[in-house]
Amino acid sequence: MSLIKLIEFKLLGDDRGHLTVLEGHKNIPFNIKRVYYLTETQAGVPRGFHAHKELEQVAVCVSGKCRMILDNGRHKEEIWLDSVSKAIRIEKMVWHEMHDFSSDCVLLVLANEYYDEADYIRSYSDFIEQVRNA
Ligand code: TYD
Repeated sequence: MSLIKLIEFKLLGDDRGHLTVLEGHKNIPFNIKRVYYLTETQAGVPRGFHAHKELEQVAVCVSGKCRMILDNGRHKEEIWLDSVSKAIRIEKMVWHEMHDFSSDCVLLVLANEYYDEADYIRSYSDFIEQVRNA
């Protein structure tokens, strides 16, 4: 089964421009409890490099693009987030990395829980061990 779970947002609007709507339990598959965004990222400085034990997230580049790598401990897949209408689910226990940010990148992330450092797995070897013991 593919690790890449895309969500296509409908672009609303008219000749004044686009408008995109994100709604919990509608086009976002959970109740949105937290929103954060990455800005001033750099092309040669990747981010992420962790998995979450329970957190569910959806990510979309609302400006620019970046390359997302998803890894469930058995295989890896990558996708370019390069459209305001193309979001990806980052499910629990999926190691994720973001690379090759464009200079105009704004990566918006929606999450179903508040920030909790205890939910992070930041060591790849710990992640692999937890996947194997699951
Ligand atoms: P981190 O999740 O490591 O960033 P990334 O995955 O983009 O590389 O977060 C960077 C720092 O910000 C880290 O010290 C934790 C903190 N942080 C919060 O305080 N609240 C949050 O909601 C998030 C996502 C991060």
